[in-house]
Amino acid sequence: MSHDFHKLRVVEVRRETPDAVSVRLEAPRDAASKFEFKPGQHLTLRREFNGEEVRRNYSLCASPNEGVLKIGVKKIAGGVFSTWANEELKAGAVIDAMAPHGSFSWNFDATAANHYTAFAGGSGITPILSLIKAALETEPKSRFTLCYGNRTAAGIMFLEELAGLKDRYIDRLQMFHFLEDEEEEVAIFNGRLDREKCDDILRTLITPSSVDAFFICGPGPMMDAIEAALAEHGVAKGKVLIERFTTAELSAAQAAAARALEEKAAGLKMSVTLNGRRVSVTFDPANKSILDNVRAAGLPAPFACKGGVCATCRAKVTAGKVEMKVNYGLSEAELADGYVLTCQATPVSEGVALSYDG
Ligand code: FES
Repeated sequence: MSHDFHKLRVVEVRRETPDAVSVRLEAPRDAASKFEFKPGQHLTLRREFNGEEVRRNYSLCASPNEGVLKIGVKKIAGGVFSTWANEELKAGAVIDAMAPHGSFSWNFDATAANHYTAFAGGSGITPILSLIKAALETEPKSRFTLCYGNRTAAGIMFLEELAGLKDRYIDRLQMFHFLEDEEEEVAIFNGRLDREKCDDILRTLITPSSVDAFFICGPGPMMDAIEAALAEHGVAKGKVLIERFTTAELSAAQAAAARALEEKAAGLKMSVTLNGRRVSVTFDPANKSILDNVRAAGLPAPFACKGGVCATCRAKVTAGKVEMKVNYGLSEAELADGYVLTCQATPVSEGVALSYDG
């Protein structure tokens, strides 16, 4: 993928809930083909706040067939980017964005007859909405079940659009809403999507063996609970796709072990390729990760979360060995192919060679 940023024009900012907006963007004509995307992918946006560059990933909520670029942004407490997008961003503004990327996606096929199920929590609906639309539009014989958790009905993002989809695909889209702070008549729909609730859902509402792929996106504890429940109900790991946007802090012991590894790597030389240019970089523990060492050496290596979740900083190791602190962004197949998250990586041998290209 290209790591360049392009200037996108904001076409519309639409209020979806009291604390969430959707933003429709338009790519410049000469970069339009770079902004073609797969359902479930996201954009990395970049903006300076008080002289400091901030990058954030936001999922596209449109399906590729809609021909628009649209993201959902929920305001989070203390979130500089999401607060700005909710309170100040207006049509006509210009925003820097990297081409769409991410592996939380599916190759829908018109001949398939599959059953997909998604668990979404809060703004985690954004990539799921893209996947639902793409699945139902592309695969006329497939069906989709959505389990969507929120605190209150007023906080449900894209409620109108979801209701419209339900009307349009009445036989193929099944939707269950779970509300934490409001009482529903049927007990199972009350409360958060925790482990107990997921077990209930898999016993009563969904037959796990009937599902060809599960998509999960929402708060960390919700995703952990669903992942564990699916495993216990016999669902193979390969059928479960998870999209994380945040991660927990390292424990004190993990942080100390990571620090020791970084100190040990001091002075190791790495060969780094980016945009066709190869540069030798010496690891300095003060810069912590390979990513920050590469950037300190003057190469504009891509990144967004720096937390091991978004995979924007992905590079392929072609020689030597590196270790990662955490990995929430790469699949088993990518790991087997030698990819690492450079924001989490430390060299552990001499002669590490890695490439951000391809
Ligand atoms: S920058 Fe997000 S995983 Fe490295």
